[in-house]
Amino acid sequence: MSTNVVPTTDLDSAELRKAFGAFPTGVVALAGISDTEPTVIVASSFAVGVSQEPPLVMFAVQQSSTTWPMLRSLPSLGVSVLGECHTDVIRQLSSKDKTQRFAGVGTTVLPSGALLIDDAPVHFECAIESSHTAGDHEIVVLRVTGLANDHSKQPIVFHRSAFARLSA
Ligand SMILES: Cc1cc2nc3c(=O)[nH]c(=O)nc-3n(C[C@H](O)[C@H](O)[C@H](O)COP(=O)(O)O)c2cc1C
Repeated sequence: MSTNVVPTTDLDSAELRKAFGAFPTGVVALAGISDTEPTVIVASSFAVGVSQEPPLVMFAVQQSSTTWPMLRSLPSLGVSVLGECHTDVIRQLSSKDKTQRFAGVGTTVLPSGALLIDDAPVHFECAIESSHTAGDHEIVVLRVTGLANDHSKQPIVFHRSAFARLSA
């Protein structure tokens, strides 16, 4: 069997999205308080392992995002690794209608203003370290200033546009 590698210049964007979607990722909620309003972006582009010393993580945000300009100026952001119990609220947290994103969602605000989604397997408290233009996205590097681990909770997995569980 041979593999037919097609130049991306000959592909339609749906094929590219399908290929990118075949790579399983976690899902995080990056959130803070902007002008007294809880503000959030859900991201599957989040990655750890950028650097351990200092501890750095990253995610990519669409240049067209209307939410990121509200978050990018905050001194501290909460990053909640979303868990199995959040499956039903992920679409709501990422909806275009900003007013209903947090309806019925338990949250905790840290003294720094970082906003955490309750019951996440891992919480990071972060400060923006740098950002870098990458095509139609901005790669944002975050310095981790604090964290909380709850080993009893499982993260949700985003794969082929659907949410999957690690546990059966
Ligand atoms: C599972 C999932 C993953 C997402 N990942 C990203 C991401 O990595 N980067 C991004 O900019 N938006 C991502 N989005 C879209 C944003 O969460 C949100 O819908 C978008 O920012 C809303 O538009 P606004 O920024 O103009 O408010 C994702 C949405 C979902 C449901």
